[in-house]
Amino acid sequence: MAQASALRDCSTLTGTELLQWRRRQLALGGTAADLDWLIDLAGGIPWASLQRLLLDPSRTIAMVQSLDVLTQLWQRHLQENVPLQHLVGLCPWRDLLLESSPAALIPRQETELLVDLALSHLKAAPPGRWADLGTGSGAIAVSLALAWPTALGHAVDLSCDALRLAARNFKRCAPNHNCSLHLGSWWIPLKTWWGTLDLVISNPPYIPISVVHGLESVVRDHEPHLALSGGEDGLDAIRAVVDGAPKGLAPGGWLLLEHHHDQSALVMQLMRDAGLVEVSAAADLEGTRRFALARNRAAAS
Ligand SMILES: C[S@@+](CC[C@H](N)C(=O)[O-])C[C@H]1O[C@@H](n2cnc3c(N)ncnc32)[C@H](O)[C@@H]1O
Repeated sequence: MAQASALRDCSTLTGTELLQWRRRQLALGGTAADLDWLIDLAGGIPWASLQRLLLDPSRTIAMVQSLDVLTQLWQRHLQENVPLQHLVGLCPWRDLLLESSPAALIPRQETELLVDLALSHLKAAPPGRWADLGTGSGAIAVSLALAWPTALGHAVDLSCDALRLAARNFKRCAPNHNCSLHLGSWWIPLKTWWGTLDLVISNPPYIPISVVHGLESVVRDHEPHLALSGGEDGLDAIRAVVDGAPKGLAPGGWLLLEHHHDQSALVMQLMRDAGLVEVSAAADLEGTRRFALARNRAAAS
């Protein structure tokens, strides 16, 4: 908890005091979901305990931070649009509690599905070697390393700061991991292993630059543009990743990509144009096609 730990001050209070404080903070702005997230992650009061307090406010609770500290964090969130994950220094994602910082994109909920797709498509034949291109916080790579502990993983990023954060997340969530971290652009640092990768997964930057400029301040001003912008049409990074796939993937190896909500047809066409086969799309929880899957051709017999 980067910002708050210096002010750590365990405090005991009644449910009534917490609920009155909660009402005062919500009157200043923001959403109840965000404030309850802060009470949980920074205050140590999970949502279920908060619900029990609503039913019985006379209960006494112990918080891991004082309300003064939480007030400061909430005000910074409201006034400076700083993401709560950066203020608390943590981000729950899948079954992990990752460190979060301005060094990398805050892992998004839809990206959890990209990991689910990888696990389901490779369930029958888990990869011997896999790579996560554009690993950022390491969210995807940590999940894959935990799911396939004996497979050899590679996590690549162009940002040194992001790789440092990924290394810390490996240390806290998967200390016995089998994944190496590489600084560089997409496939280039993996040249030694080209042709041997059974799975390459990537959530690359895919937002058209004009759209990045119009994003909400909490994203535009606080998350790295290297993680957001995919160039003029949003497809620069996706083209680079798809173009490298026929050489980089093992015969029959999988490529799984996340993309913007309106790029499904274009990304699938890029995959076909590159000579990949079994091209398909997958939807997010709202039914929007946000993922593209394809395989490298099998080795000629
Ligand atoms: C959308 S973020 C995804 C981060 C993380 N995988 C996730 O899903 O939360 C894209 C990542 O790609 C990285 N990136 C951008 N350009 C790159 C390049 N040329 N080579 C490798 N990584 C790159 C960014 O630094 C960023 O960490």
